[in-house]
Amino acid sequence: MTTAQLLTGHVLTFTDDPFIVPWPDAVRIEENSAVLVKDGHIVATGTAATAQGTHAKRHDYPGHLICPGFVDAHAHYPQTAIIASWGKRLIDWLNTYTFPEEMRFGDPDYAQSTADTYLDLLLDHGTTSVASFCTIHSTSVDALFTAAADRNMAVVAGKTCMDRNAPDGLRDTAQSAYDDSKALLERWHCTGRARYAITPRFSPTSTEDQLAALGALWAEHPDALMQTHLSEQVDEIAWVRDLCPQARDYLDTYEAHGLLGTRGLYGHAIHLEPREIHRLREVGAGLVHCPTSNTFIGSGLFDLMGLTSQGLRAGLATDTGGGSSFSMLRSMAAAYEIAQLRGVAVHAAQLLWLATAGSARVLHHSDEIGQIASGLAADLCVLNLASTSAIAQRHARAEDIWDAVFPTIMMGDDRAIADVWVAGQKR
Ligand code: GUN
Ligand code: ZN
Repeated sequence: MTTAQLLTGHVLTFTDDPFIVPWPDAVRIEENSAVLVKDGHIVATGTAATAQGTHAKRHDYPGHLICPGFVDAHAHYPQTAIIASWGKRLIDWLNTYTFPEEMRFGDPDYAQSTADTYLDLLLDHGTTSVASFCTIHSTSVDALFTAAADRNMAVVAGKTCMDRNAPDGLRDTAQSAYDDSKALLERWHCTGRARYAITPRFSPTSTEDQLAALGALWAEHPDALMQTHLSEQVDEIAWVRDLCPQARDYLDTYEAHGLLGTRGLYGHAIHLEPREIHRLREVGAGLVHCPTSNTFIGSGLFDLMGLTSQGLRAGLATDTGGGSSFSMLRSMAAAYEIAQLRGVAVHAAQLLWLATAGSARVLHHSDEIGQIASGLAADLCVLNLASTSAIAQRHARAEDIWDAVFPTIMMGDDRAIADVWVAGQKR
């Protein structure tokens, strides 16, 4: 048994989905409250935490916001070193910057050092969980899960499968994608905090044989996740139409091969047809909004409010390194800006929910991460709401607690992360 820890400060809690019910009925900030942590888990919150925590070690965060650790629902850790590469749109960006860098992950030492660097960057930015693509190399998956286990982080990852339209050295086959993914899934899925995601990169780089093989693997392991990309750029969608003329639409290239399901994560999902929206909602699939990526590589404006109000499930992500930041604060700000360009204002409560509970829900991991509630893992992020002079002077004018939080969402970065806790340990 470890010593109990009592964190005091303003505490963010959720009772519902703020995209379905009005946000004040779903999200609360309890001012001057507390969280009691023991043996890696949250034991109590609010007055119960204070009452039960009289002998606990105290960590006082006056005026700070104690949030669930951020959950980044779609990223590419192998793109850490090529983040912010200039001047290309999706397909040229993949060929010019991404594929040459991903080639390097055949070297286990390079993969391990990048995985370690990447997860340390995430923690610096308050992110305690991520769903990441790896490369075609099994060693790249072992590296990320090893780095995650060293830090006790709940991480979702999978070997990125590609058997066409990728350079020599970066292609597998339908059979080897199946065999390698199966071996990795059996090695890592539900080992400690690890979860495996079967990972066809996207239809342009997987033949129908490969998609079918991965669909078969998912049918054999339905408790695993499946992550891919969907309808990110207009040129990409036209290419998919040429490559798969028999498909009804982009989603059908996955659906036809058993790759549409409730545990499926569909990154971007910007330019959707009515049939695709209908099917994604019907199966309860997870859409992952990647706003800094969508502006950085010029993809388009995701319809966050329109899709969620129809009952589709969405999470939030950086999409590093198509995304231009490691920060979920920056991702929330970009989600706000994209919604403004579509004519709607997303509330801070909705943004914080999306970056934590919303992402945890699309990862089917809400039993462990994404909320401050007793029984869940004590993965926490403590935000300084006046971390820079620019934010502090705006914060000083705040009229209520939400007005005090919003400047940090819009202007904050890693300097706003006062502390991060992973499974009850302060990092
Ligand atoms: N589509 C297929 N691969 C990728 C990738 O690595 N990043 C982004 N943003 N889109 C993709
Ligand atoms: Zn991506």
